Amino acid sequence: MIVVPMKDREGQTLGVLQLINAMDKTTTVTVFPKSVEDLVMSLASQAAVAIRNAKLIVDIKRLFEALIRYSVSAIDARSPHTAGHSRRVAAYSGAIALAINKQTTGPFADVFFTPGQMEELSYAAWLHDIGKIGVPERILDKKNRLSDEAMEVIVNRFELIKALKLNRIHQARHVGNISSPEGGKDGPDDSMSEETNKVEQEIEADLSFIQRVNRSNFLSDEDLATLEVIASKTYENLSGNMTPCISEKEFKHLSVRKGNLTAKEYERIQTHVEVTHNIVRNIPFTKTLKNVPFFSATHHELLDGTGYPGGLKGDEIPLQSRILSVVDVFDALTAADRPYRRAISPEKGGEILKAEAEAGRLDKNIVNLFLDKELYKI
Ligand SMILES: [Fe+2]
Ligand SMILES: [Fe+2]
Repeated sequence: MIVVPMKDREGQTLGVLQLINAMDKTTTVTVFPKSVEDLVMSLASQAAVAIRNAKLIVDIKRLFEALIRYSVSAIDARSPHTAGHSRRVAAYSGAIALAINKQTTGPFADVFFTPGQMEELSYAAWLHDIGKIGVPERILDKKNRLSDEAMEVIVNRFELIKALKLNRIHQARHVGNISSPEGGKDGPDDSMSEETNKVEQEIEADLSFIQRVNRSNFLSDEDLATLEVIASKTYENLSGNMTPCISEKEFKHLSVRKGNLTAKEYERIQTHVEVTHNIVRNIPFTKTLKNVPFFSATHHELLDGTGYPGGLKGDEIPLQSRILSVVDVFDALTAADRPYRRAISPEKGGEILKAEAEAGRLDKNIVNLFLDKELYKI
């Protein structure tokens, strides 16, 4: 028997190489000749190096995965709107791919994700929104149409408008009283208080309407008409210039019909996909993971060509990207950690997915598998 330690370059013993029962030409068990010892020693050392290299590859991979997970989670956590999103998208996508692998009948009977393809999908899912690092928090985190600071400016301005208008009424009356002393020397002037009340009420009503619209997620035709009337109102500022009560920029933010993002802010959010692509394509992935940049950068493409950024259609969108689009929409609807909007139930989220699939935007087979197997309950 020969027992040789398997030592790596640093002299660390990783195991032992044991050779037993040496045989001679007649297959009779004998002792190992002295000359074999050197050969076995060299074999043991090469085996140790190979084991060490394999372990290093595993360690580097784990480190890389952890780096991705922690950096992506940190980016997601910039806003309560996105916290935990990529982790859930990765978990849902993995569950769908595993379920597809188990299908022996139906549309996915011939589809099988190899371990390498599973890994590729997982990286694409984790990285799909990494480009949101380029979207300012004030947009990502937007809870109302106007920021709190911008709303405070309006409140203060309306206070000023009220004070200025009331002051002007008093001044006008004072001048009137001097030129016509009889005109109101007995007790309170009813017509004046009526006028000041009217001005006060109008300004307060306008302000509370703006405050309501600011928090609202939808603007009706009627509300838009009211907002336009307010936007057309002016006041004489301290320098004597006529100034609009709300600025053009404020009107643009307040007049959004659905949601609370202006078209410009929405476009800014959409740019995250290009940023994702730029970041991910610069990661030197191995050959088996070469599609990660493409999958992650096509998660907002829709089957009918109305998605972005490429407006890809049908078969131009690979299965992996379709999986990402389905779970991305689902998580955006149902995520429980969004403080400003109540999350909808998985059932309601499922109905929306079905409607999107029916409308030809999401892959019907993926949606059905995801909902039928309740893969969101992971
Ligand atoms: Fe996205
Ligand atoms: Fe996403």
